[in-house]
Amino acid sequence: IRAHLTIDPHFTVGPIDRRLFGSFVEHLGRCVYDGIYEPSHPSADADGFRTDVIDLVKELGVSTVRYPGGNFVSGYRWEDGVGPRPERPRRLDLAWHSTETNEVGLDEFAGWLRKIDGQLMYAVNLGTRGVQDALDVLEYANIRSGTALSDRRIANGAQEPHDIRMWCLGNEMDGPWQLGHGTAEDYAQLAAKTARAMRQVDADLQLVVCGSSSAHMPTFGEWERVVLEHTYDDVDFISCHAYYEPRDGDYPEFLASAVDMDRFIESVVATADHAKAVRGSDKVMYISFDEWNVWYQSRYHEVDRITDVATWPVAPRLLEDQYSVVDAVVFGSLLIALLRHADRVTAASLAQLVNVIAPIMTEPGGPAWRQTTFFPFSITSALARGESLELKLECPCYDTERYGEVPYVDAVATHDRETGKTSVFLVNRSLDEEVSLEIDVRMLGAAALRSVRTLHDDDIHAANTLSEPERVTPRSNDSASLEDGTLTITLPPVSWTAVEL
Ligand code: AHR
Repeated sequence: IRAHLTIDPHFTVGPIDRRLFGSFVEHLGRCVYDGIYEPSHPSADADGFRTDVIDLVKELGVSTVRYPGGNFVSGYRWEDGVGPRPERPRRLDLAWHSTETNEVGLDEFAGWLRKIDGQLMYAVNLGTRGVQDALDVLEYANIRSGTALSDRRIANGAQEPHDIRMWCLGNEMDGPWQLGHGTAEDYAQLAAKTARAMRQVDADLQLVVCGSSSAHMPTFGEWERVVLEHTYDDVDFISCHAYYEPRDGDYPEFLASAVDMDRFIESVVATADHAKAVRGSDKVMYISFDEWNVWYQSRYHEVDRITDVATWPVAPRLLEDQYSVVDAVVFGSLLIALLRHADRVTAASLAQLVNVIAPIMTEPGGPAWRQTTFFPFSITSALARGESLELKLECPCYDTERYGEVPYVDAVATHDRETGKTSVFLVNRSLDEEVSLEIDVRMLGAAALRSVRTLHDDDIHAANTLSEPERVTPRSNDSASLEDGTLTITLPPVSWTAVEL
């Protein structure tokens, strides 16, 4: 397969917001307990957090972290997780058929975020709760002192306010599985009231209203229309969520998942812009793609097997997907799709961070390791700086059942005017053919090749595991050369590549 790409730094899509490299920690399975928090682990710090995990999270390069859910948040009482630990109640977690001990809550999580240099993105419960509880947690978290709840935070040991800037107004309220799910109209009214109330406390909060939990929801499109009709003036972002897995073993289609993400984003942008036109508003609505990943939902049904409510476990092993090379390649192309829309997608959260559909895995008392998906994230987060660029790609296509004709190559480039650095992220979707790619970089001026790293393995199902934690790692791609403004490179079948110029 031969392909050609032209890069011109004058054709910009938009600045890359660091919040695109967010992640997500939910009280789900072993994400918090036995994941980030394991007081008895040899690497645990004085607060009970695993320092080996902290090191990996920093290496991953995450910015904002969404917390505490997810489906969990729709039944969560935030006040259960603050104050003296022995007094914290154990609760039923209806979403994940687990027992929540509340050993970790808002104050501890905010403390953990300081250790990883991350920002907190907090989701309020609009499933079983509403305006008052959102106001209460906002007061507890953000008011400096001198009110009942801010003083309670101080008494609990958190002297400084957590100063949470981004707030999600509930989670996946379009989903029938969600506690408190209702119609778009019901949710929109509650979200609008909550947003206005929260802004009465602080007009500068960044608020995210729930969009659809997938572009394949029966209410997709209409949900966004109704929700934005009620909330357009009061929120800054509408959320998108998407998870991908192969359907019936169709890997060519799976490798084209980013096409679905592109269309999803563009449909939500169109719907938001329609709401803007109807209101005659000047305001631009942004997208927070605050759950995205590969997730083998059809493979694992552990939650359904936890039936006896009398014995719902603490931190069971749930959603512990093991990611392969092909998963990481799809994952890398999802990041490409997000960057391609950097003008409108200004926040995103990789769901999730540790153990639960995660780039980082841990064993209790044992090691922590990087899944295959760790690498596209860490490298893209490190290299994608400045602005996202519009590219001219000439490449043959293949046919898929769901998405029609799809180019074999997926690509995005970023350019940082200050440093002059350019990065190109590339995917070869072909299952069996190499791509011989020529990139015209003349418009970049005197560019030099700094590094080219490719994630590929002859076995597309190869993965990193407890027994073989470094089976798959990116390697230098020695096929690349730059001469007279043309960069030539060979992309192996089913591969993800990052070029640094
Ligand atoms: O990330 C796992 C789950 O996926 C989240 O709890 C929920 O919001 C989504 O359905």
